[in-house]
Order: sequence, then structure tokens, then C-alpha cells
Amino acid sequence: MDIDKKILIAPSILSADMAHLADEIKAIESAGADWVHVDVMDGRFVPNITIGIPVVASIKPCTKLPLDVHLMILEPERYIQQFAEAGATHISFHTEATQHVYSTLKAVRNAGCKSGVALCPATPIQILENILETIDFIVIMTVEPGFGGQKFIPEMLQKIKAVRRLIEKHSLPVDIQVDGGIKKDTIGPVVRAGGNVFVSGSGVFNSVGPTESIRALREAAKSY
Ligand code: DX5
Ligand code: ZN
Repeated sequence: MDIDKKILIAPSILSADMAHLADEIKAIESAGADWVHVDVMDGRFVPNITIGIPVVASIKPCTKLPLDVHLMILEPERYIQQFAEAGATHISFHTEATQHVYSTLKAVRNAGCKSGVALCPATPIQILENILETIDFIVIMTVEPGFGGQKFIPEMLQKIKAVRRLIEKHSLPVDIQVDGGIKKDTIGPVVRAGGNVFVSGSGVFNSVGPTESIRALREAAKSY
């Protein structure tokens, strides 16, 4: 397998300058980003409140990149259709936020999107075992969801390895997205553990700028 091809960088616009969101998205697109990661928070599942359906609809015409919407909201099943209609291409939600993980995954696919399921740091991976065929990507949180700029939790490397083993055991084409604290000094061990889609907010929207930051992330990923 050509691991280079499989490494995808998904900058999180949570750390972008919201007053100039269209320009920020254009900047990551020309810097070679693969997906745009959109963090939706409701002030209930997580303490923070961010952006929602109208913002997804507004940024859709600004980019050709996939829009990867990460729902950190209670009862995500209530909003799948609306996010899909607003332009999401990928939708992930948290197992901890719904009683109905399987039917919500099906709803995401039925809405024409890639289905993702996200696990908080303390959530065991066993919940995935019987529903793998309905999953396009698994999001391993390497921080507690809610805020950008937190420190990567190194204990999650074992969890990522275990998810990679689970997917390989079933020979399924499921991506492993890793979200939280991904920077040039943390991405390498995560590549080695088996992650292949990397969300990075404060690691991309910083004083160095997206072009240099994304280049440095890819370089660090490659050296593993
Ligand atoms: C956290 C969000 C992340 C966040 C990552 O709840 O899901 O996507 O934006 O930010 P950094 O890369 O700064 O940890
Ligand atoms: Zn996220």
C-alpha cells in the first residue's frame, strides 16, 4: 500500500478567523488540504457553542473540497438531513450522544454522505464491532471534544492501533480519522499506530500559516 496516498489532512475551521471564513477556506484549499473539517457544538453535548447549518450552507460554494461535518451535539439524528442538504459530504457524530448509533449511520448514508462515528477518549471501541459495515470512517478523539488547542492524549495511540487491527480483521475500507492536538510533533506516532485522516485546527491556522503548516504535517507523517 502506498501510505502517502492514504494520508489526508483535514484542517478544522474552528481555529480559523471566522470574520474571513471564505478566505481562510480558500487558503487551506490552495495549501493542499484534503477535507474541510467543520466542528459543530451545541453547548449541551460539549460545553462550547460553535456553528451550524447556515454556516455549512454558506461555505459550500467557497470550496471544491469535501465538507467533513463533526457533530458534537445531542441527538444528532435530528439534524442529519439538514446538514446533508446544506452541503456536508461527510458527517460524523458521537456514539455517546445518541441511543441509536446504527440507524443514525444509515441515515447519514441515505442522505448521500460518508458516515463517521466518533469516540470520546474514554469510550471503548467494542461498540463498533457489530456495525462496522455501516461505517465509512471512525473518528478517534485524542482530546476531550469541545475546544481547539488542547494537548494530544498519548494513551489514545493504543486505541488507534486496536481500531486499525479491528478494521484489518474485517478487511473493510474504513478510514481512521484522528482529531485533537495533531501537530507536526504528534502526527508521526499516530501514522505509525494506523491513523490516516488527520484533523488539525491550531496546527494549521497559526502564525506560520496553512501552506507551511500542512507541508510540515505531511513531511512529519512521511518520516514514519
Ligand atoms: C475538538 C474538535 C477538533 C478541534 C481540533 O472538539 O473536534 O476538531 O478543532 O483542534 P486542534 O487541532 O487545535 O486540537
Ligand atoms: Zn472535530
